[in-house]
Amino acid sequence: MKYILALDQGTTSSRAILFDREGEICGIQSQELTQHYPQSGWVEHDATEIWESQRDVAREVLRSNEIAATDIAAIGITNQRETVVLWDRQTGQPLHKAIVWQDRRTADFCDGLRRDGHAETIAEKTGLVIDPYFSGTKLRWLLDHVPDARRRAERGELAFGTVDSWLLWNLSGGQTHVTDVSNAARTMLLNLETLDWDPALLDLLDIPRAVLPEVRPSSETYTQSTSDFLGQPIPIAGCAGDQHAALFGQNCTENAMAKCTYGTGCFVLMNIGTEPLASKCKLLTTIACTGGDRPEFALEGSIFIGGAVVQWLRDELRIAETTCGVADLASTVPDSGDCYLVPAFAGLGAPHWDPYARGTIVGISRGTTSAHLARAAIESIAFQVADVLDAMNADTGIAVKELRVDGGASANDFLMQFQADILQVPVERPRVIETTALGAAFLAGLAVGFWKNLGEVESIRKSERVFEPSMPLAEVQQRRARWQEAVKRSMGWQT
Ligand code: G3P
Repeated sequence: MKYILALDQGTTSSRAILFDREGEICGIQSQELTQHYPQSGWVEHDATEIWESQRDVAREVLRSNEIAATDIAAIGITNQRETVVLWDRQTGQPLHKAIVWQDRRTADFCDGLRRDGHAETIAEKTGLVIDPYFSGTKLRWLLDHVPDARRRAERGELAFGTVDSWLLWNLSGGQTHVTDVSNAARTMLLNLETLDWDPALLDLLDIPRAVLPEVRPSSETYTQSTSDFLGQPIPIAGCAGDQHAALFGQNCTENAMAKCTYGTGCFVLMNIGTEPLASKCKLLTTIACTGGDRPEFALEGSIFIGGAVVQWLRDELRIAETTCGVADLASTVPDSGDCYLVPAFAGLGAPHWDPYARGTIVGISRGTTSAHLARAAIESIAFQVADVLDAMNADTGIAVKELRVDGGASANDFLMQFQADILQVPVERPRVIETTALGAAFLAGLAVGFWKNLGEVESIRKSERVFEPSMPLAEVQQRRARWQEAVKRSMGWQT
């Protein structure tokens, strides 16, 4: 068999990518996903659209490349994390729209948890800060608001899942209700020590055990897809949240190796080895997928709006027709004209964790143009990543030596150079920037013996370009100080 099929279900699109034994992309198909904004701060997806778009792109990538299902050794899944789906086990129908990770509807409930003094225990057990970002409070909201849901969940009639579980359920024709440990670690319900659901946290959030999937490692054969999916059963053998998959796809398998994925949001993860480290700088402790039996951990800084700020300029302000157009516009000016844009559209994640922060532009003058705004937007991505890396350096006492980058916006040379400048650290871009999907393919391929061991997958990753820092330190410091001022002004905009 010649290929691994990676299903990459992201916030804005569903993608299917075929990798060969050398880790080369042999086919790619993508379909956009509709975003629903029913109220300010709420973000939903149609769970049926998530499944059907993922199914359709998988079928299409085989068809358009004339590849037979018999040539696929295994399927690996990677997905937007924290987004929750609740469905009926009998009919397989979702009971509500999926509540997306960016959704802030449970901010009040999270305030209550903090006020009642649960922050420390939750951080100790789960590695997370209390925030509406994570799945647990979203699931609780569904159980409280969908008529009869709690009673039915207690009776075992309903199933909850993050997007991985939802896809696995559908791929297996309703036979398999599992999640992998990396996705489970984002629910605020998983105990990082036992790597299983924590009974006290289930009590605290009033979540019945019967609704939850079984927690499994990220690299093993969970089930087979139905014949209906691609014409014949195929083992589904890898599963990881997208950021964990990217960390693995970037071969950050040793202590202090870090990557940043520039997608809708930006997510910086650093491998911290076999012992979870409690962050003092408001970072998250999470799972690093290893492909092996031993659990490994990572520190994570989650930035909610990354590439999405460019889409906002395109779709809402309409300053250009394409995201490339926004980047082109930005490059027509030498700097942002002392203009700073803080894209706190969904609150601020790490290291601030303020669900009430809102987008802010400071420094506008009569001479500010759309090009300055475009530049400020792109620069904001790099500033946020730098804030997170500072926190990581402080937490671990280790200065990151290089940042490995991937995801759509990592193709932007200007952004990557600016990132290296602001970090004062080299930024390394691999040849395949679809690292999330590649990581999922590695996890699946290792489980079925398509690749023999970690050494073999590590030899696949190739560097394409290293961006060396070149901005004078004084300028970096001055710009970062201005950025910090702008961040302060975006915070605490209580709705
Ligand atoms: O935690 C949310 C993250 O998994 C979403 O990733 O690539 O869809 O922005 P992405």
